[in-house]
Amino acid sequence: MSRLDKIYLGTNTKMTKTIADTELFLTELSTLLSDLNRETLELFVIPSFTTLERAKKISAEGKIRIGAQNMCWAPEGQFTGEVSVSMLRELDIDLVEIGHSERRHVFGESDEEVNKKVLMATTHGMTPLLCIGETLSQKQYGISDEVLSTQLKIGLNGISKDEARKLWIAYEPVWAIGVNGIPADEHYANEKHKVIKNVLVSMFGEEVGGDIPVLYGGSVNNGNADILISQKFIDGLFIGRSAWDAKNLNEIIRSVIPLFEKRKDI
Ligand code: PGA
Repeated sequence: MSRLDKIYLGTNTKMTKTIADTELFLTELSTLLSDLNRETLELFVIPSFTTLERAKKISAEGKIRIGAQNMCWAPEGQFTGEVSVSMLRELDIDLVEIGHSERRHVFGESDEEVNKKVLMATTHGMTPLLCIGETLSQKQYGISDEVLSTQLKIGLNGISKDEARKLWIAYEPVWAIGVNGIPADEHYANEKHKVIKNVLVSMFGEEVGGDIPVLYGGSVNNGNADILISQKFIDGLFIGRSAWDAKNLNEIIRSVIPLFEKRKDI
């Protein structure tokens, strides 16, 4: 079975939900989605560190995979304010988002640091959700493909084929994310997903590289989710603001699943 037989849908709640908010959100989402078949849907929520223990308990019944928004590249030690891989494993977290645009552009994370985090995640059996994307000026210079390729080649340096079998990628153009973001149109997004998939195949071969899920993120909403998921190279959606209301996320999920299924018939 290919990993791409499933649709990948999830959200990073950033720094917006307290433990109480996360509890409400996950409980509502679990109820709303209780009838959906999880063999073909990988549903994930990535809330703040402080909520993880509680989130993990609630999601067990709702079959929602819980991930962390970041982690340290060092295994332990004198790193004030950081959270280590073993701290996440202790909570039974096996999914970690690495290199989100805000980590790179607000907190100055480099591709080399991202790579160390990816390696730390894979050596501990976690699924890294590596986020990549070009800035507006890189797009305007016409170097988006080179930037994506560089982010993948440095970010995934040293990852074995076997480790790549766990990897997920999110393509999130920096200019498309957040309140001032302009969503990428579906043709542009699909074209960049194809570029990403080609790089992954060149790194890990067709069987492994061609089977790595690539999700699109950046101003996904009820108005564009359908057209985005209908594109050949888009394997899932990584949603911010539009997913933070459980009812809204439920609507998006129910709308895109049949379209994804239809794609398989073509
Ligand atoms: P957005 O966030 O959907 O609110 O643009 C996307 C993201 O940062 O992953």
